Order: sequence, then structure tokens, then C-alpha cells
Amino acid sequence: MDLYEYQAKELFGRHGVPVLPGRTVDSAAGAGEAAAELGSAVVVKAQVKTGGRGKAGGVKLASTPEEAREKASGILGMDIKGHTVHQVLVTVASDISEEYYFSFLLDRSNRTFLAMCSAEGGMEIEQLAVERPDALAKVPIDPIAGVDKAKAGEIVAAGRIPAAVADQAADVIVKLWETFVSEDATLVEVNPLVRDPQDHVVALDGKVTLDENAGFRHPGHADLVDARTEDPLEAKAKAKDLNYVKLDGQVGIIGNGAGLVMSTLDVVAYAGERHGGVAPANFLDIGGGASAEVMAAGLDVVLSDPDVRAVFVNVFGGITACDAVATGIVEALKILGPAATKPLVVRLDGNNVVEGRRILTEAGHPLVTLVGTMDDAADKAAELAAAGTVGA
Ligand SMILES: Nc1ncnc2c1ncn2[C@@H]1O[C@H](COP(=O)(O)OP(=O)(O)OP(=O)(O)O)[C@@H](O)[C@H]1O
Ligand SMILES: [Mg+2]
Repeated sequence: MDLYEYQAKELFGRHGVPVLPGRTVDSAAGAGEAAAELGSAVVVKAQVKTGGRGKAGGVKLASTPEEAREKASGILGMDIKGHTVHQVLVTVASDISEEYYFSFLLDRSNRTFLAMCSAEGGMEIEQLAVERPDALAKVPIDPIAGVDKAKAGEIVAAGRIPAAVADQAADVIVKLWETFVSEDATLVEVNPLVRDPQDHVVALDGKVTLDENAGFRHPGHADLVDARTEDPLEAKAKAKDLNYVKLDGQVGIIGNGAGLVMSTLDVVAYAGERHGGVAPANFLDIGGGASAEVMAAGLDVVLSDPDVRAVFVNVFGGITACDAVATGIVEALKILGPAATKPLVVRLDGNNVVEGRRILTEAGHPLVTLVGTMDDAADKAAELAAAGTVGA
């Protein structure tokens, strides 16, 4: 889960990273009040989960509360790369002597953590990395050893942060590491980390990605979700503890096991090319023990997606055998009753497949088509989805 800048900086503040005071508001009048309260020149900053806000006109200086109100009124409602601005952060304006770049991230290809540091921050870091790679230090971090003051000093030196503020920058980096580890983040980025004329080092911006798999360790993280921008189907699935990701297509997908679901997406996308370009509408892994309740919950989410024209249920019986899954599907359709309105293509294989197929055949539900192989089932589901699209 990506955080807004204001949320990232609140976390920073709690872990002792120096940030400037500010308030997040959703109206121009609120921005004026916040500026008056802060009692100084302020910066009004669009809160959207995308980069380049400054360039897009979403970061503006205001020297009076009246000006803060005007600037906020211009920024609120703006569209920045497809993200609508619902809130602005009104924060104390800082004098800036220098802008640095700093981040900790998960380096998947090297299976470790990485620190990136540069005395040349502020600008788009991707551009710096391409144009002048030597100006961006990349220091691997041993996850067990972590980052102590000595390691932070090494990073600061590699990033060529000036000696006058090197010690302070190292302290900030140790605290950012504490934030990264104790919040279970996969990214902590500060661009710019600034040096002010009094030689204080302050985080003026913040970008944090939290690892949702560690959410159970952080009950507070749930409060950071913005319901306004969450996909309603994903929210519904999350409430039912389902592993669901909304995609752009028309064929609803339900499978057991992430690997099987991933390959189901592939075969449906491939089959869709023969049927007017229909594509998978979602990823949904109902896991190993596909009980009737879980199947019903999954079907409920997938069927409530208005884009879905047909559903492909692809289950490989293992510990939960095919007969149990088939009973689950039959029971789920009973639970859903008239809410089940779209054709279902079911492919069962694996443990106890003969009995599973018998149960589905005998139930004889009018929406269910049983197909023997994964490829044929994908083709059938794509065909039905394409037919549904024409009829709509
Ligand atoms: N509190 C502040 N005081 C003074 N200047 C600021 C302040 N916050 C931001 N700025 C200036 O605005 C620039 C852009 O701000 P910021 O980095 O927060 O947004 P951005 O880089 O455009 O957005 P993103 O990081 O999402 O790409 C900074 O590099 C800095 O020069
Ligand atoms: Mg920035």
C-alpha cells in the first residue's frame, strides 16, 4: 500500500525523522485557516499517490493565509496523471540551500535491501540515474546487520553529501531505516531531503510503501487506507479475506492457488484474442480449502463486477478434493440464488475428479457449463463473454 506524503511524514515524525509542521485539509477555506495557524509562509501541496506533483502545478508557495486559500482552490480538484486531488497538505515553507535524494527499497533482483543516496536531489531521480549514474550511490544493505551510524556514514559519503551536514544526514538515515524496518515498508523515499541555511537536514517530501502482507502486525495501518480511491470490488473482496485484484477485462476468474490462477489469466487472455479481444476481469485465488462459503464469497465478488460477462472457475482438486469443490459450487449457487446471473464455465481436475463432475452434472444448474480441459474451458468462457458483450 502506497501512502500519501502527509501520511509518510507523520510516520517519519513518529520515528524521529525531522519534518516540518503541517496540516492536511480538503477545502480552500481550511487551507487558509491552516496557514494562519502555522503563522508563516507555507507550501500548499497536492496529496496524490503519484510523482511529479511539483511539475504538474500541484506544489505552490503562499506567503499569506489568503494566498494559501487561493492556491489550494486551484490545486483541489486538479487531475494529476489520472489522480484527482481531494486533499492538500499545508506545511511550513522552508528556505533551501541544497536538495538531496535518499531512499531505502527492496531490491528484488539482488534479494536484498538497497540504499540510494545523492547530493543531487530534487529533480526526477530516474533521469539522474540514467544521465549521471555515478551521482546516485547505490549501497546494498544486509537485512540482518541493518543500518547503524557507521553504515549510514558510508551511505552519506557514497552519495557525496557535504561534510558540514554529513553527521546529521547519517542520523536521519538511521531513523529512516528504523521507520523502514519497524513499519514493514518496502520503500521509504525522501526527495528532497534538504539542507536549510542553518544547516539543518529536513525531510520535505516523503514516499512510503507498506508491505500489506505484514498488515497483521500493524493494526494501525488499516487506518491509512483511503476509501475514496480504493476500488470498491477490491474493498469488498478484502472484507471477505479474498486474494482479489481487479483487472480490465470481461471474463471473471476464480481458481485455487496463485500459480493456477496466474496461468488461467494467461490462457484466457490468449483465448480472448480469438473472441473479439475479451480478457480476464480479475485475479482471484480462493486458496486451498475451497469451501462453499469461500466459493460463494468469491462468486459474489466476481458476479457483482459490472464488467464481467462470463466466469471461469478453474479448480485443481488437491487436499480439498473435486467433489468437495463441486458441492461448494452447487451450494454457492444456492446461497447466491437470483444474484447469480452470468454463465459459469467450470473446469475441475485432480483428486476425485469423476465424483466432482458427477455432482455438477446432476445438479444441472442452467448457468453452469462443465468443460474437461483448461484450454477448452478458457475458450468457452471467452466465447460466452464475447457473446455477452454483443448483447449488452
Ligand atoms: N515545505 C517546503 N518548503 C519549501 N519548498 C518546498 C517545500 N516542499 C516542497 N518544496 C519544493 O517543491 C519541490 C517539489 O516538492 P515535492 O518534492 O514535495 O514534490 P514533487 O517532487 O513534485 O512531487 P513528487 O515527489 O511526488 O514527485 C521540492 O523539490 C522543493 O524544492
Ligand atoms: Mg519529491
